[in-house]
Amino acid sequence: MALENKLGITSSGELANIEEKLTKIKAIELFESGYLDTLNAGTFDALSKIHKFLFGEIYDFAGQVRTVNIAKGNFRFAPVMYLQNALDNIEKMKQSTFDEIVEKYVEMNIAHPFREGNGRSTRIWLDLIFKKELSVVVDWSKVDKEDYLLAMERSPIRDIEIKHILKNALTDDVNNRSIYMKGIDNSYHYEGYNAYKTEDLK
Ligand SMILES: Nc1ncnc2c1ncn2[C@@H]1O[C@H](COP(=O)(O)OP(=O)(O)OP(=O)(O)O)[C@@H](O)[C@H]1O
Ligand SMILES: [Mg+2]
Repeated sequence: MALENKLGITSSGELANIEEKLTKIKAIELFESGYLDTLNAGTFDALSKIHKFLFGEIYDFAGQVRTVNIAKGNFRFAPVMYLQNALDNIEKMKQSTFDEIVEKYVEMNIAHPFREGNGRSTRIWLDLIFKKELSVVVDWSKVDKEDYLLAMERSPIRDIEIKHILKNALTDDVNNRSIYMKGIDNSYHYEGYNAYKTEDLK
């Protein structure tokens, strides 16, 4: 069963396909229009606007904080009850150094503010912070997908692996569109693997 969507698609496989294509088109527009560079890096408002831009034609909840509890694997993301408070605190986190920026990214991943599409929108949000604060971005083509996902799964307990992976993939080629787009390509949102568990979460 597919997540409820504006396109009236009921097959989760078909939704995954169309969602992938649409968000790639929107991601290019986000970059080329210059809109992305106008956002206030490191704020929840910036992340919300990125999410709304990418997913606005697909989901009613685009840009909006989720109203259900969700989990992936054995990990439960921030409970809805504490989510707004968590977002307020994350926004206040420092972002002057590489370590501070990755720590902020890890906390935003733990918050997982949206019902779907957190990975893609939060990687773009991360790159925007890196670009504005350190004049670098992540070259996601240098990041092995499996390594990244394992490091993100580990990150709530230990962030050394994700720091290592990201540090080795930094580039100063900050206005290169194909490098930027690799953050969207570097996805796990194919059917099955990436499904959220929502049942029995209280
Ligand atoms: N078990 C886990 N614990 C913590 N974080 C996880 C776990 N599994 C996945 N993640 C993070 O969640 C992201 C996926 O979130 P979501 O499915 O909402 O985003 P997406 O944009 O659809 O997917 P993707 O990141 O694959 O493009 C992953 O990229 C990873 O950063
Ligand atoms: Mg997904």
